[in-house]
Amino acid sequence: MSAWWRDAVIYQVYPRSFADGNGDGIGDLAGVRAHLDHLVDLGVDAIWFSPWYPSPQADAGYDVADYRDIEPIFGTLAEAESLIRAAHSVGLKIIIDIVPNHVSAAHPWFQAALASPDAPERELFWFRPGPERPTDWEGEFGGPAWTRTPDGAWYLHLFDKAQPDLNWNHPRVREEHLDILRFWLDRGVDGFRVDSAALLVKDPALPPVVDGRPHPFHDLDDVHEIYRSWRRLIDSYGGDRTLIGEVWLPDPERFARYLRPDEMHSAFNLEFLCSPWDAGRLREVIDETIRVHEPLGAVATWVLSNHDVTRPVTRYGRAETGFSFAAKREGIPTDLRLGTVRARAAALLSLALPGAAYVYQGEELGLEEVEDIPPALRQDPMWHRSGHRDPGRDGCRVPLPWSGEEPPFGFGTGTPWLPQPRAWKDRTVAVQRADPASMLSLYRAALRLRRTVPAVALTWLDSVPGVLAFRRGAFACVANLSTAPVPFDGDVLLASGPLEDGLLPPDTTVWLAL
Ligand code: NOJ
Repeated sequence: MSAWWRDAVIYQVYPRSFADGNGDGIGDLAGVRAHLDHLVDLGVDAIWFSPWYPSPQADAGYDVADYRDIEPIFGTLAEAESLIRAAHSVGLKIIIDIVPNHVSAAHPWFQAALASPDAPERELFWFRPGPERPTDWEGEFGGPAWTRTPDGAWYLHLFDKAQPDLNWNHPRVREEHLDILRFWLDRGVDGFRVDSAALLVKDPALPPVVDGRPHPFHDLDDVHEIYRSWRRLIDSYGGDRTLIGEVWLPDPERFARYLRPDEMHSAFNLEFLCSPWDAGRLREVIDETIRVHEPLGAVATWVLSNHDVTRPVTRYGRAETGFSFAAKREGIPTDLRLGTVRARAAALLSLALPGAAYVYQGEELGLEEVEDIPPALRQDPMWHRSGHRDPGRDGCRVPLPWSGEEPPFGFGTGTPWLPQPRAWKDRTVAVQRADPASMLSLYRAALRLRRTVPAVALTWLDSVPGVLAFRRGAFACVANLSTAPVPFDGDVLLASGPLEDGLLPPDTTVWLAL
């Protein structure tokens, strides 16, 4: 039998926004526990938890203060242990988020490093003496990547200033992370999602970022040895555990290097996520993905959304349907009806492809990006650090609507940490469960049928421009991204929207038995 993660559907839980069990308006582990039935009913194979560790929440938990415990807002370590067991008992695997590039400024190592210019802990980070800023590197959230300490030294942070970067040349940093992995493997987790996986190693000479020269911190060759050591460790635990990398690299050959047989099992297909709703481009990405994964025996992944990007129904309802951080703006004219029709078609397309698929919470409800969050309630450091030029990522992180006619829609009893649109009364889990035409019903049906799709490679079928058609054994998928209805052959198993006189309308995908 092949490993579970090869064709799994993995559901991303963003703990703050999934469900609130204790009434403080912020999601927590009790909330997840209370709604495990939603995930079983949906038919996913695994949960990936965005970070659940103690954290000042300067970047919603991607600023970890203690990697061996649970954030008190979310619950306790004992609750996490029992949640892992409960999930396993209903057949769900657990993947947790590991954040190795940086820690929280509140992490004891950084606190010790700040305490004195001579502290040995400074070696665990990238401290450089003043007065000049060591480089003009820009951080991933905008603004300078260096901040000055009260004693005049500078430290590097590729993200927020509350997220100092670790020095991965230091053996203690390497040992510490292997030990953190062991801690959670001992508690039964089935895998790790590795945050910012291509950024860990820096060129110690700190050269400037210059086009055409090797980048000082993106994708340095030495990063691979780290993942080799992680792979050895998780293999030694047995039991089909998996490593998935968050690797943002446009070059497929460089991307594939993370998937060599002794490194990670898979990495997020962010090219696919960013692709516009365009048959030519999607076909290119799909072909390229298969081309680089196949010879390595690595598993391809298909991702339409996550907690960092504009929700698909919003993206696909715009003139520019692709995603890029640089172009992210609010208030762009958006046709949510069209976006939803396309998101349904995109869901069936991505779930038919060979490999693992990811579903970000709320995607199965067809939630749109929330763009009218009052500035005072916005929390994302991207919004703050960009001087409010970038709207940030809060709009895809709004708490889920579960039931009822008005906020908080069964999310909990308190006021949700971000306000939910009133229109979500029609998008709750309860409403959608009862509606066979809902997005939720489509995802449920697709996840069930997906289990019957032969586990074989895809073969493209002849099709007119604008149409993606492929088969996998006796199963076929046809996605019509053109502007005219098209004919198709086969018995309909599932369609993302109504068919017209036996034809497949624009922006519609159908699954077929041949
Ligand atoms: C990628 C995560 O997905 C994002 O949410 C986070 O802000 C950065 N890494 C920094 O950890």
